[in-house]
Amino acid sequence: MTATSDLAPRRLRDIFGTFATGLTVITSSTPQGPAGFTCQSFASLSLDPALVTFSPARTSTTWPVLRDAGSFTVNILPAEHQHLAGQFARSGADKFAGVSHKSSPLGNPILDDALAWIDCELHAEYDGGDHTIVVAAVRHLSARENAEPLLFFKGRYVELAAAGRVLEAAG
Ligand SMILES: Cc1cc2nc3c(=O)[nH]c(=O)nc-3n(C[C@H](O)[C@H](O)[C@H](O)COP(=O)(O)O)c2cc1C
Repeated sequence: MTATSDLAPRRLRDIFGTFATGLTVITSSTPQGPAGFTCQSFASLSLDPALVTFSPARTSTTWPVLRDAGSFTVNILPAEHQHLAGQFARSGADKFAGVSHKSSPLGNPILDDALAWIDCELHAEYDGGDHTIVVAAVRHLSARENAEPLLFFKGRYVELAAAGRVLEAAG
């Protein structure tokens, strides 16, 4: 196999997709109304200072709007929000149609029944190829008790209750 076909986008997508993640919708209040996008690339980054990271595609039309707003909320999706993952991934659509939400301490949309939410302010942005690596400072956060996460694995939405079996507590 040549290096080129080894790194073909389809193959990269398939193999990167074996790394199971949760899913988030990152939201902000903007002068044009609420905005947000589905984001898999979220991760915790630092405890002191409290930082998180995620990577918007350079083609994202929503990220520049969130960046200009300066603050945004990471909504971690519960299993029952599978439909919202699709809804917030459709560019140009009215992503908030039928979506109930309340205001975070920084004034951003918290989706009803989010597994957890993390209110953030933009800290730094770095080059990430066809994506931008965002580092965000955590200002406020909260989580729901007894909710199951929505997982993403090999291009499919997966429920922990169906697929998960605790092997051992980590650490
Ligand atoms: C499961 C899933 C995960 C996604 N993860 C990301 C991501 O990490 N970064 C990103 O920029 N877009 C991601 N997207 C795509 C964006 O949600 C979508 O391209 C974006 O909402 C396009 O709309 P926009 O032009 O309004 O930004 C993901 C979509 C889905 C369905």
